[in-house]
Amino acid sequence: MQKTSKDTRIILDPLGYALGAEIRGLDISLPPNQKEVDAINAIWQQHHVIVFRGKRLQASEIVNFAQEFGQLDDHSSTPFYRHKDFPQLLQITNRSIDGRPSETRNTGRNWHSDYSYTGRPAAASMLYCDQRPPIGGDTMFANMVRAYETLSTTMQGIVDNLHAVYDISLTAGLNERDPDKTKEVRLLNPPIAHPAVRVHPRSGKRALYVSERVSHFHGMTRSESRPLIDFLCSHATQPENIYRHVWQEGDLVCWDNRTVMHIALADFDEGKPRHMLRATVLGEQSGFIVGEH
Ligand code: OGA
Ligand code: MN
Repeated sequence: MQKTSKDTRIILDPLGYALGAEIRGLDISLPPNQKEVDAINAIWQQHHVIVFRGKRLQASEIVNFAQEFGQLDDHSSTPFYRHKDFPQLLQITNRSIDGRPSETRNTGRNWHSDYSYTGRPAAASMLYCDQRPPIGGDTMFANMVRAYETLSTTMQGIVDNLHAVYDISLTAGLNERDPDKTKEVRLLNPPIAHPAVRVHPRSGKRALYVSERVSHFHGMTRSESRPLIDFLCSHATQPENIYRHVWQEGDLVCWDNRTVMHIALADFDEGKPRHMLRATVLGEQSGFIVGEH
């Protein structure tokens, strides 16, 4: 199925039933004009994950494109993994750095929404694939609006009244990183409680905001919280609610962290390089520090 949006050359191909759409007909190495930004935002809001493919981009071009969609994070909450010339780009890579394994090689290995452990959780992320392994290294996305809407009204009422405590220690792969850096990153990001339902500022849609990085619900014990976290995560990640992206080099995949959670799969040969660059659009201020580790 194809639709052409009015007044632009943009062509839209849905990629999944629950979420995901490819946008074609736009050269993203050039900054988009306002009409194009509006058309992209409309598609993005409806499909939650949008994909641009087939154009090799320079780091500067990724930044120039991404900044049209909001203020970019300088990634100061994880300062060690930034691109050396562009702090707006985080390097997610398994290429060795100075002969040592990269510390971001296992980024994203559990279900999460980006920077949920900060006071300004990411609004959106735009991940560019520079180099991919021959097989695998896919990323999966879950539609959290649909996850919320398919809960019973009673369960919706329960989650509406909860705050989820996000703990950076639950970030997959953190323990494999340099202990001094990890300590600093943990001190920069103490556990923080966010509403368990996130309201999208543009669409007004309600999305479940609970992931595998939640330690407990504020005011509840960990053992009381566990079954509910597990239920909500497995409810949200049912196969019907997923789009699985198989990367090609040159893909730019953009997701809305307010309505989507994602996971990076380790389904590839670690000896083969996988090199990605991520721009992150800042979200609204949210949550309160709970101050316990
Ligand atoms: C991320 C992330 C996914 C991937 O960049 O936020 O989770 O597949 N990465 O590398
Ligand atoms: Mn991520």
